[in-house]
Amino acid sequence: MQKPMSGLTCLTVITLFFLVQQHAFSQNITIPVETQHNALVLQTNSSNNVGIVYLGPKLTDKKEYEAITAMYKQTTEYTGVANAAYAASGSRNLFEPAITVTHADGNTSLDLQYVRHETTKLDENTSLITVLLKDPVYDLEVKLNYKTFFNEDVMEQWSEIRNNEKGNVVLQKFASAGLYLKAQSFWLRQYHGDWAKEMQPEESRLTHGIKTLDSKLGTRADLFQPPVFMISLDKPATEDEGAVLYGALEWSGNFRIDLELDNQDNLRIMAGINNHASPYTLQPGETFTTPAFLSVLSYQGKGDASRKLQAWARNYRLLDGKGSRLTLLNNWEATYFDFNETRLKALLKDTKALGVDMFLLDDGWFANKYPRNNDDAGLGDWQENKSKLPNGIASLVSEAQNNGVKFGIWVEPEMVNPRSELYEKHPDWVVKQPNRKEYYFRNQLVLDLSNPQVQEFVFNTIDNLFTKNPKLAYIKWDCNAVVYNAYSAHLTNQSHFYIQYVQGLYSVLQKLRKKYPTVPMMLCSGGGGRVDYAALQYFTEFWPSDNTDPLERIYMQWEYSYFYPAISSSNHVTDWGRQPIKYRTDVAMMGKLGFDIVVSKLNEKDLRFCQEALKTYTTIKPIIWQGNQYRLQDPVGNSVASILYLDAQQSAGVIFNYLVNNRYGAASERPIRLKGLDPKKKYQLKELNIYPGTLSTINSDKTYTGEFLMTVGFNPDARANRTSVVLELKAVE
Ligand code: DGJ
Repeated sequence: MQKPMSGLTCLTVITLFFLVQQHAFSQNITIPVETQHNALVLQTNSSNNVGIVYLGPKLTDKKEYEAITAMYKQTTEYTGVANAAYAASGSRNLFEPAITVTHADGNTSLDLQYVRHETTKLDENTSLITVLLKDPVYDLEVKLNYKTFFNEDVMEQWSEIRNNEKGNVVLQKFASAGLYLKAQSFWLRQYHGDWAKEMQPEESRLTHGIKTLDSKLGTRADLFQPPVFMISLDKPATEDEGAVLYGALEWSGNFRIDLELDNQDNLRIMAGINNHASPYTLQPGETFTTPAFLSVLSYQGKGDASRKLQAWARNYRLLDGKGSRLTLLNNWEATYFDFNETRLKALLKDTKALGVDMFLLDDGWFANKYPRNNDDAGLGDWQENKSKLPNGIASLVSEAQNNGVKFGIWVEPEMVNPRSELYEKHPDWVVKQPNRKEYYFRNQLVLDLSNPQVQEFVFNTIDNLFTKNPKLAYIKWDCNAVVYNAYSAHLTNQSHFYIQYVQGLYSVLQKLRKKYPTVPMMLCSGGGGRVDYAALQYFTEFWPSDNTDPLERIYMQWEYSYFYPAISSSNHVTDWGRQPIKYRTDVAMMGKLGFDIVVSKLNEKDLRFCQEALKTYTTIKPIIWQGNQYRLQDPVGNSVASILYLDAQQSAGVIFNYLVNNRYGAASERPIRLKGLDPKKKYQLKELNIYPGTLSTINSDKTYTGEFLMTVGFNPDARANRTSVVLELKAVE
């Protein structure tokens, strides 16, 4: 039987009731995080937890955000925190958490409550809103950061988790951020891949439960799955219609993105570093800062979202995003490991003859005890191979100068072959389990970048190249192995390895960029195994795939272009595929153009075509690199794929059209509608990149209004003997 309450207890209960009541009825705090078109609205609830009450087009009257919640009559919400801005576990939450911790005393509960928020306008276009949350029982706080890029409708979210407890706190899960969306249905566009098959899209309706996109590969983390995705709301967005959110995690290692459709049919997105094998110990007074989760939301389809993201990347993230790039001749597929100084000097002459800016010397130039004549030896021994290059890199750099071209070089500084002097000297620098068999990926192992000595070694590898060769103009930074047998001889806490590896990589890149702020660097990873918006702050471009078959590249570059701007996409003309040189060059032109062919083997017409195409590229590259990209006709489901790059003034553009179907009669039967033009302006279209000895079928004297081109369209006349058609668009008076 229950005991009756004493007078004192009764008073305490009444006071407590009052306090709780007062709290419950006190005004909820509403925090709108707005960009030009959209708003993410955070709001405290009666328990002082911060939830997401809205993500959508922004409202003119901010006060109306407060009325949103009452408009939803969904099923019972049992937890009160289903919409948490940063879901904690071990208390009321019943869903996928953003954060799970083990406190200093072993307790695993967490409740994060609102303390205060702050808005700082960083400049005309960017603002930072921070929201401080704290557990009322444990001395642990989380600061949520929301950085907005107003014009681009882009938002970056990250968290800072601070341990103010007396002992260590272990972070079992530590997402960067969460989002919570309401819609009738959600459609996920995700990507998977493998070597030479990067960026393969799949689109499907999300069903209830959790869909996880993740990587556990450690280094070239994107090989099987990149950290980018799209979510369409209500129905699959098309290029020009529908609501779509793009998400990307800014992290170059293991990531985890959870998409949970809950009992109320709402979608919870949780993105961050993969907590797999990575519980992270936070010492007292220490703060863990997560990488940022990037998102852009558009109500005008995938095309609009991608143009915004591309603009953001050029304006804010990609190294030298508004700058220029070097065209190049690479020797990888022309020679593989089989070259010497004489052969390279001949290639330098070819570089000049072709008309590109630079020669890029690829893999195979280094190591002596275990010469790099194959991929099974020499990695790590970054001294010029004396028999191939008796006069060193220096003589090639000066020979390049004599030929009026620049010189760039390939490195893979994070890796080591077991057959190398580096491995012999520093076995403790290598990622491998002490008591287990070694497993190799491309005959190599990963160096332990969590170790500051290794970081120093990697920095020095690049620094020495520049010190000895100040005229070196370019670095291709490769990374061909994944992490097997994750173990660091340096770390005491092995579960920090995957995280500290990436932090070590960034600290090397930061140091390099401090000393060499502008030198162009390509982010390469045995193809497209590593590209993300954290890495791209250090790199000017990335290598989408070793698969340079132009037909394959049309599809791949198409998908990459949703997330990354053309200026960052290194596209090389090679001998992959069966298409003529014109087709291959036209496809490679839709980004940063390079060549990896034996120039001396080109017939006279092919060489002339390439030389002329390079001159043309000089005139159109500002539009390709800095213009707005409009996908006009998808290669999937159409015989002809078509993409337009248009300058900001809507007065100059380039349209690339490709026949992607070789069945009988496949052609551009109907006109292709242009986009983004000024309907009132008049335009002329002229064919570019015409192969020597052929004639264009396009009448370049004829004038069309923007209205005509966007309503009726234009027929590039692509067909079996005109498989690739490049058109220049110019506004005329
Ligand atoms: C993989 C890269 O993707 C290629 O372009 C080439 O650089 C090789 N590595 C060299 O080993």
